[in-house]
Amino acid sequence: MFRNLVIASNWKAGIDDYNLALQWLKDVNIFLKDKEDLLRGKIRIPVALPYCFLGVLNCEFFRELSLLEVFSQNVSHVGKGAYTGEVTVKMLKTLGVRGAIVGHSERRHIFGEDDELINKKISILLENDMDVIFCVGEKLEERNSGRTQEVLYNQISKGLKGVNNFDRLIVAYEPVWAIGTGVPMGIRDLQEAESFIREVFKREYKLENLCLLYGGSVNKDFIKDIRGNTGMNGVLVGSASWTADGFIKIIENFIF
Ligand code: PGA
Repeated sequence: MFRNLVIASNWKAGIDDYNLALQWLKDVNIFLKDKEDLLRGKIRIPVALPYCFLGVLNCEFFRELSLLEVFSQNVSHVGKGAYTGEVTVKMLKTLGVRGAIVGHSERRHIFGEDDELINKKISILLENDMDVIFCVGEKLEERNSGRTQEVLYNQISKGLKGVNNFDRLIVAYEPVWAIGTGVPMGIRDLQEAESFIREVFKREYKLENLCLLYGGSVNKDFIKDIRGNTGMNGVLVGSASWTADGFIKIIENFIF
């Protein structure tokens, strides 16, 4: 019934009120607790919170957390030292955070993060036994000029330079042109991208069982298509997961 499934929520800056954040976590937690026996060991549910909400890990109700795994949306590439404003891997780790999203297109294209910086972030996370959701994806002009595979290959090989342990790596394929538009990519294009990315990992890293997610305007209907027509391991959901009900519906449609 299940393969190695991951349904991840990326809050971005979309839930910007701490009380609403707590309510979301409580509501999703109640739903998951109810399904715990069925789902434990079969599905992972990371939720990537903004830094300033990560302290929820110390809240009482989180001690009884069912399946939610708290991730960060970002991490610094530097360690301890005089780096005003930075949040280091160790800060996250000592709080109980499981991992971080790296290479998201909004960080690449709005905040100017390049492959070299992304590579440093991935390396420092993996060296510290933290999980990584590594995002890759082409822009519309790159797709239209037939450069999708070249872009994906470059992002993967530069982002993973020097990395040789992939146990904690999840890759999220997120075509930039499908993010936040309300329209996910077509299933045939997704199948093509999936087989290309899996092929790259088999060939270059001898990795047969890459955990690969799709992200980009995922909604409760598209999720069924992905489940039925691709071999993807799951999804990284942005705005459709910003209400607890919306996220619960996506989980239900994917696994039931
Ligand atoms: P979206 O975002 O679902 O709102 O398109 C996905 C993402 O950027 O991770």
